[in-house]
Amino acid sequence: MIHFILNEKEIATGLPPGTVLLDFIRYHRHLTGTKIGCREGDCGACTVLVGEIHDGELHYQSTTSCLMPIGNAEGKHIITVEGVNPATTGQSMPGLSPVQQAMADEGATQCGFCTPGFVMSLTGFCLGNKEATQQNAIASIDGNICRCTGYKSIERAAGKVAAIIKERKGEEITSFVSRKKILPEYFPGIKKRLQQLNDAEKARHLPDLASLAGRPHVVGGGTDLYVQKQDEMTHASIRFISDQPKLNRVIREGNKCIMGPSATVTDLQESPIINDAFPDFHRYAKLVSSTQIRNMATIAGNFINASPIGDFTIFFLALDARVILAHPDSYRASSKEAGLRTLPLRKLYKDYKQLDKKPEEHIEQVWFELPGKNSFFNFEKVSKRTHLDIASVNTAISMTIKDNIIENAGISAGGVGPIPMYLEKASAFLAGKKINEDPVQEVIEIVQTEISPISDARGTKEYKRLLLGQLIKAHFISLIRRAGK
Ligand SMILES: Cc1cc2nc3c(=O)[nH]c(=O)nc-3n(C[C@H](O)[C@H](O)[C@H](O)COP(=O)(O)OP(=O)(O)OC[C@H]3O[C@@H](n4cnc5c(N)ncnc54)[C@H](O)[C@@H]3O)c2cc1C
Ligand code: FES
Ligand code: FES
Repeated sequence: MIHFILNEKEIATGLPPGTVLLDFIRYHRHLTGTKIGCREGDCGACTVLVGEIHDGELHYQSTTSCLMPIGNAEGKHIITVEGVNPATTGQSMPGLSPVQQAMADEGATQCGFCTPGFVMSLTGFCLGNKEATQQNAIASIDGNICRCTGYKSIERAAGKVAAIIKERKGEEITSFVSRKKILPEYFPGIKKRLQQLNDAEKARHLPDLASLAGRPHVVGGGTDLYVQKQDEMTHASIRFISDQPKLNRVIREGNKCIMGPSATVTDLQESPIINDAFPDFHRYAKLVSSTQIRNMATIAGNFINASPIGDFTIFFLALDARVILAHPDSYRASSKEAGLRTLPLRKLYKDYKQLDKKPEEHIEQVWFELPGKNSFFNFEKVSKRTHLDIASVNTAISMTIKDNIIENAGISAGGVGPIPMYLEKASAFLAGKKINEDPVQEVIEIVQTEISPISDARGTKEYKRLLLGQLIKAHFISLIRRAGK
């Protein structure tokens, strides 16, 4: 049985854990406010909020319910649009929530199909810790598409929502959103109910990773799997990596940054370790998918999906990250190391979607050496649309420079071959070069010998060659800019 809270109601369901949350909401609970648009995570019409307790605090994130397996809802609070409107939750105060009212007041809805998704994303913004600016409110709806109203009125509504949150001034979030009726009367009781649910869960002795290790399917956030094979996943025998506590932690041990495989893009964005190491991380992350998808998309999922243009694969390739692969034997063996092996990420990819990984192995950990004070890192991505689009070409560079000499370098590139590429020759060429002798043109020439792009919907092979050359120049321009600061 899977247990969670849906709006104000406790749910216990025996449905297969791979069942899509959206289908459960609409077809089993008949809550049809949550819409089905694309079923691919692109339109945001199916957005719901997912609340869970981390380190004693209740946190909410927006997600696309069309890509979320119901098993990942275990022990969590799911809020649909029916759960924000006091009139539809059967409580005493009828009417619109302030977020819905802002949308109505600004004429931010026409056919109304996309509106519940916008309302949920903006309600999620009210439950978060971001500064109450119109810009941040607009950023929270970057995964929602409206086909008929036009965005100006929606942006104005977002501005109104930001103005409401500005009044919070340090008040505890639950108390503030309840006082402002952003969420109805059941909301203040949720944290306690979730704690009780999680305590009961522990008492039920849910299977741990060890006992699930033999099952074939590993699911991270589901944002690749549920786009590619949703029907198959519904009845699949699944081990839920995302649900395992501690598997999304980002910690520092000496010079190493160690990440759990289920760390999401949002977890990295919120990590002080990552932000210290990569001051531009926020800018890079904005180029990856949307708020909802970043809340779900894990690094291990990005690595194992093995897309030649996976953004975080390219990011961590340049850092020469290592993955620790665990075999089910590792849970049976007496020694801690048995059944575990460490592999440089660049060795994981053998050919298009061919990995040096046994089907029963999963990524247990990812680590990389944190950049030191002489280090430089940059990530570049060009896609047909700046946001919410996959790359035509992406690339990252990591270098340690001392006294104007490059001590070591790693360059990676995506979209220019059958696998996400670590550019061995170009990286080796840079080591030992003097930075003021302008090695850029020579590096680009070496890179051209290492890549084999093909022409496809994202550009011709000639364009991709040219583009990667330009992006390598962009890396060095960024280096010069940083040196000038
Ligand atoms: C709308 C949309 C926009 C997107 N935009 C981008 C983008 O801009 N850039 C980008 O790079 N990607 C993008 N993606 C793709 C996707 O979000 C990422 O690849 C994401 O990191 C996948 O992670 P996941 O946890 O959702 O993977 P899942 O779908 O859960 O899993 C993907 C694969 O990894 C395996 N897996 C997961 N965890 C483990 C583990 N611990 N050990 C072994 N195998 C594991 C699964 O079995 C599966 O084979 C987008 C997807 C959508 C739907
Ligand atoms: S239905 Fe379009 S994002 Fe889910
Ligand atoms: S109001 Fe019609 S799609 Fe947005």
